Amino acid sequence: MSQAQATGESTLSYPLRFALTPSTTARAEAERDAILADPGFGKHFSDHMVTIDWTLDAGWHDARVMPYGPLQIDPASSVLHYGQEIFEGLKAYPHDDGSIWTFRPEQNALRLQRSARRLALPELSVDDFIESIRQIIAVDGDWVPKGDETSLYLRPFMIANEVFLGVRAANRVSYHVIASPAGPYFADGVAPVKIWLSTEYSRAGRGGTGAAKCGGNYAASLLPQMEAYDNGCAQVLFLDGETGTHIDELGGMNVMLVYGNDRIVTPRLTGTILEGVTRDSVLQLARDRGMSVEERDVSIDEWRDGVASGAITEVFACGTAAVITPISQLKGVNLEIGDADAPAGEITLALRRELTDIQYGRIPDRHGWLTRLDS
Ligand code: COI
Repeated sequence: MSQAQATGESTLSYPLRFALTPSTTARAEAERDAILADPGFGKHFSDHMVTIDWTLDAGWHDARVMPYGPLQIDPASSVLHYGQEIFEGLKAYPHDDGSIWTFRPEQNALRLQRSARRLALPELSVDDFIESIRQIIAVDGDWVPKGDETSLYLRPFMIANEVFLGVRAANRVSYHVIASPAGPYFADGVAPVKIWLSTEYSRAGRGGTGAAKCGGNYAASLLPQMEAYDNGCAQVLFLDGETGTHIDELGGMNVMLVYGNDRIVTPRLTGTILEGVTRDSVLQLARDRGMSVEERDVSIDEWRDGVASGAITEVFACGTAAVITPISQLKGVNLEIGDADAPAGEITLALRRELTDIQYGRIPDRHGWLTRLDS
């Protein structure tokens, strides 16, 4: 239960109005275009950001769009000590007619609410969340890159910033949205990646924060992620914390196994796995293709035996940042499953193409997943 619910106060009942303070140091068109021509991932940021404050007494208030810049954080601010923080990731996509769209933003809004409940933070309404995204596009829409499969990555996040060192949920919180022009998450684009199996570390445990999108989950993945890099792999794969036999998820994305043309298998949502919006969308697209979808426990033995017998034909990672990225090989201590040089699989590429075709408005949005942001 969030603090607001605990006190009976509703933070969900009114639409916020945003005040705008335009940046006086906004980048010139030529500088922005140079950034947009080769944005990379997460390196550059647009000229403005959104901030909304929350206090236990006043609820959400002072919604504003302001120049992008450092936050003033007191050194005793609780987020710096106890990690009471959550975030989201979604993208603004350019369409050929110049309009700007996003993908299933209400799902991100609802997940932010679920994360907020788990981290004892206040919930932001779905409408206010989507409005905060619209506001940043209204002022920084020119930061949406136009290049092939580029987008403006939107990063909403919420931090506890009460100045207090006692360990309890903070009475003062802020929500922000920043925007970052983005190319592919992995440097090699859709080239297949190798994955490292962590057997020493878990990402989440029963009753923990695995299903919440909180910074701590990602911080805990960094040491095993370094192990992955040391072994020539792009991401780390975690096993379930309880038995250490089932696959959970990667450091920052979900994982799926493809059985021929007709079946796709992914770990079920046990509370330790992030409920990926891309994960859910890919499963829907697979069903639309007539594939059967199985959300269940998947053991490493199943992965190894399935690849050895040829039953498992493709494996891929999926997430907002990663979109759909083929996995060629799983490596671990005394373990190698799959061929490091294997090309991207057909189903993987077909699902990726279909998903991005919808996101970029190249085919009809038959599930009503898109929301226009610039009107
Ligand atoms: C995303 O896919 O949006 C993520 O949040 C993963 C990672 C960049 C943290």
